[in-house]
Amino acid sequence: MGRNLVLNIADHGFSVCGYDKDEKQRQHLMEEAVEKPVSVAVSLEDLVSKLKAPKVVMLLVPAGAIVNMVLEELSPLLQKGDVIIDGGNSYYMDTAKHYQNLQSSGLHFIGMGVSGGEEGARHGPSLMPGGNPESYEVVRPILESIAATSDEGPCVAWMGNSASGHYVKMVHNGIEYAIMQLITEIYDLLKNAGRFNNKELHHFFNEWRQSELQSFLADITADIFLQKDEETANFLVDQIQDKARQKGTGMWTSQSAMELNVPLPVIDAAVTMRFLSAMKEERVEAAEKIKQGKVEVLSIGKEKLAEHCRQAMYFAQALSYGQGLHLLSIASVTYEYKADLAEVLRVWKSGCIIRSAMLNDLRKEWLNDPALTNIILSPFFSKKLFHQREHVAALIQTAIQFKLSLPCFSAALNYYDAYNRARLPANLIQAQRDYFGAHLYERIDKTGRFHTEWLHESTIDQ
Ligand code: 6PG
Repeated sequence: MGRNLVLNIADHGFSVCGYDKDEKQRQHLMEEAVEKPVSVAVSLEDLVSKLKAPKVVMLLVPAGAIVNMVLEELSPLLQKGDVIIDGGNSYYMDTAKHYQNLQSSGLHFIGMGVSGGEEGARHGPSLMPGGNPESYEVVRPILESIAATSDEGPCVAWMGNSASGHYVKMVHNGIEYAIMQLITEIYDLLKNAGRFNNKELHHFFNEWRQSELQSFLADITADIFLQKDEETANFLVDQIQDKARQKGTGMWTSQSAMELNVPLPVIDAAVTMRFLSAMKEERVEAAEKIKQGKVEVLSIGKEKLAEHCRQAMYFAQALSYGQGLHLLSIASVTYEYKADLAEVLRVWKSGCIIRSAMLNDLRKEWLNDPALTNIILSPFFSKKLFHQREHVAALIQTAIQFKLSLPCFSAALNYYDAYNRARLPANLIQAQRDYFGAHLYERIDKTGRFHTEWLHESTIDQ
């Protein structure tokens, strides 16, 4: 990733110096960078000595302890006004600390989300820098030239104050988890209820390329169904163990949402399913003990099932973005990031993992109403979601019939239905809290908070 970014920067005419602790990596960079304005340093001191002021150093190291270590070593070597960029998937709370500490010693610190994987780093990532707007101006020409481009220019913008860049990237990853899980639930249904084979699955997702469902994640999914395994000649996807790993950024999104009291059930469900998928041995044991009944015959036909999937995907994908953006709007106020959500959506339009056709419509809604918090209330999406709801319900009914689980689609539908209800049954929860703990409740007919000495069973009997 680091090497690819160095090469990308050099391709745009900037002289750049690379450093890796591992000598083999340094050698590799030297070989790849022949005839490019690239030098290779042998130590951090050597690296810093090769830079012109204001010096800009970008770290691409694993989040957590290693970032701390490198910052400790690097910051004494730099001068007031120099800039350090952390381009890893760092935890936003760590970034906020580094930002404050370094800022107070006169150094600029930019926490920058970088999305697009190795390929993106080489040919154009989506970049989400946050920190001090002054420091952004120092690095803006480089970042704008190396970023991916969309019809609206380079996919980079200042995301806001302090740790906003890493916060935006964390939410990006939460949405990434949700979209991946939604596609996976469709795969499960089409394969196990619709009896689609891998070629049909390829065609199904491939058709999305020309539709409002186009997304990078759907595109790669279509490709995956064509890949053969060199060892067995079977389709590779069928040879892969059903345990999904994770590095934690999706979980951080859920944790942050819980702290800020923002409901994010589609992303939560996606994170939970990663945990459940990892519990392979327990699942195998449970499957042996709890024998599920015989699989049903699909009564609605393959084409109808496919249509439900398409409509439901739009619905649940829109809510995944919507829930992530809702979190971002609340976090931006709470942490004083001053993030511009329309700009965030523009930056996600190309280069990143969650790029999709839908981002244009989302961006239009936020440009029309920058104070929008929930897409369910936006003119365009409210109409769409209203008509697609029945397809999600039909999909879930089919899944129940086949004993397949659709946690993300179910979460999306439940969230939508609950959000649209003027009166939820939470009055009963308030009554229960007041009954057992005198936690008070509010009334529908007057203001204030009230307590009741509730009737006990023994009292009623008398
Ligand atoms: C990106 C990705 C990337 C992330 C991987 C793996 O935007 O390029 O989000 O940063 O590391 O997607 O994440 P998990 O290991 O948590 O699935």
